[in-house]
Amino acid sequence: MEEEKLVVKKVEFLLSVPRQDMLPVKNMPEYAFVGRSNVGKSSLINMLVQKKNLAHTSGQPGKTQTINLYEVDNSWLLADLPGYGFAKASKAQREQFRKMITHYLTQRANLINVFILVDSRLEPQNSDLEQIDFMGENAIPFSIVFTKTDKLSQSQLAKNLSIYEEALAENWQVLPPMFYTSAEKGRGRDELLEYIRKMNSND
Ligand code: GTP
Ligand code: MG
Repeated sequence: MEEEKLVVKKVEFLLSVPRQDMLPVKNMPEYAFVGRSNVGKSSLINMLVQKKNLAHTSGQPGKTQTINLYEVDNSWLLADLPGYGFAKASKAQREQFRKMITHYLTQRANLINVFILVDSRLEPQNSDLEQIDFMGENAIPFSIVFTKTDKLSQSQLAKNLSIYEEALAENWQVLPPMFYTSAEKGRGRDELLEYIRKMNSND
């Protein structure tokens, strides 16, 4: 039998809303991308669906300020969210983003899995570890996606990953699924799409 190709045939921007309760009710599986500002959430979405400018990206943190929903192949959804820990935003705005993300994560009924994006170049950041703990406390399924791996040598990457695993092991007996990606090079795309495909079909 011919192997099923990991292709995305159609992607459609659905809408952009400032609050989770303004999202339409959907009964398709939804996957969200969460992480610090500038970690590469919007870039990863573009890489997955192979559309350069679908989700708006920027070298300046704080680009995505709303919840943006995309429908893929008429059968599943991607949600691009604002980042947390954006230092230049006002305290009020940071709190507003935090609230938006928390409401979304705890109340979105069709949310199947959250990808927590972590910059592979950095040592474990408290804001990310807190977000990961939040997922556990609220029993929200998640995986970790290391981003920007093209910016590191193989040995630096391996070292950073093992430091990260050690930090996670302090609170987690079983480590979550982890992916190693580069939006620049397309690295990790097949693995992520395969993972999503499996979840979509309940394998
Ligand atoms: P906010 O919307 O502000 O929360 O940021 P974001 O997480 O959506 O980040 P975004 O995708 O806008 O990317 C931020 C910057 O990092 C941009 O300049 C991207 O080009 C760059 N970037 C993202 N992913 C990668 C990657 O895998 N490799 C490299 N080299 N650069 C990347
Ligand atoms: Mg963004």
